[in-house]
Amino acid sequence: MNYQFARRLDAAPESFLDRLFAVSRDPEIISFAGGLPMTSLIDVAGIRDAAAAVFADEGEAALQYTTTDGYLPLREYIAGRYRSRLGLPATAGEIRITNGSQQCLDLIAKIFVDPSTVVGMEQPGYLGAIEAFSYYQPRIKTVQVTEESPDMKAFSTLCREEKPVFFYGIPNFQNPSGTAYSDAARRTCAEICQETETIFYEDDAFGELAFDGRPRMPVKKYAPECGVMSGSFSKTVSPGMRIGWVYAPGPVIERFDAVRQAADLHPNALSQAVMHRYLTTHDYDGHLRQVRRVYETNCRQMCDLLDDLLTDITHTTPEGGMFMLATMPEGKDSMALFHACLAEKVAVLPGVPFYAEGGGHTTFRLNFSTATEEEIRVGMTRLARAYRNSNR
Ligand SMILES: Cc1ncc(COP(=O)(O)O)c(C=O)c1O
Repeated sequence: MNYQFARRLDAAPESFLDRLFAVSRDPEIISFAGGLPMTSLIDVAGIRDAAAAVFADEGEAALQYTTTDGYLPLREYIAGRYRSRLGLPATAGEIRITNGSQQCLDLIAKIFVDPSTVVGMEQPGYLGAIEAFSYYQPRIKTVQVTEESPDMKAFSTLCREEKPVFFYGIPNFQNPSGTAYSDAARRTCAEICQETETIFYEDDAFGELAFDGRPRMPVKKYAPECGVMSGSFSKTVSPGMRIGWVYAPGPVIERFDAVRQAADLHPNALSQAVMHRYLTTHDYDGHLRQVRRVYETNCRQMCDLLDDLLTDITHTTPEGGMFMLATMPEGKDSMALFHACLAEKVAVLPGVPFYAEGGGHTTFRLNFSTATEEEIRVGMTRLARAYRNSNR
């Protein structure tokens, strides 16, 4: 059978991750390549109790079809948290629940991107976003991100000259680099977006994972009409429940509802009710403090081991999130390192697929939220050995 697939599928990058994960599935491998939250930090008992309460009190409603916009009490909870944590004047009417924040990437692109539409994003940038956007055939234009901000001159030139329909960025503890924008950079991005009427699509998957617990102000705070934000409970409560959200101005929400209904009718009613019950009957802030403490310890340990064992590699020093980016000296190749790592039973993620406009051959991403302290110690020793071997 000759299957006639849509030509636009060819626009998507080859799914690099599947291939890499397939080869690193060996249980003896210590993997820093993935991006899972630590399994032991998922509050299974708490979520089980919340689910039991939902079945007892509102089981029929939670198992029935529901509305496209999402469970109102959960949207109110999220809006309330934006108000209390960040001082944003959010209302439930501006929030829609999605099937993870990954769905926002697809649906936002669906409502804004035609073939050849310019989309701006960070370089390196989140691979899942590059993949999601690619199916709508945009021209992706990137701006380098440093430890403190995107390259502001390039960001300004992009917004003024290329007029992207939106700029997609992760100001808090980016995937893959772990870097965060300074407050000054957030304000400048907001000013430029306002002047040029550019949407700033702010993926805030990691905002609650600042190690010091201090909220960083989103770009949307300084340019409300330009700000489309997404958030997620995947990194903080449970990725398997698939609860994310979009927070956007009314006209965007209206279009979002239309495409969302066509995509999958509505978010998972049971998951939403259980998530809401969990958040409102358990100590979510206490849980977050524990998650941040563990990730900070792991991150510091990984940075120290990189400094001690791999002295010619530079790396970012995240203040939150789940990832850091390491850079080898010029001439080195992260695919060669990846294969040398597999021989030593450790896995890292080559940086190349995070670079939408090419490059990144000397970089690799390290995840510090999955492995235990002991695994990090052993895994980094293996990585150092693999690095020496790959350089022979
Ligand atoms: C930056 C970023 N955005 C979005 C997602 C999607 O996560 P989810 O759909 O589970 O919310 C991820 C997952 O790793 C991510 O790293």
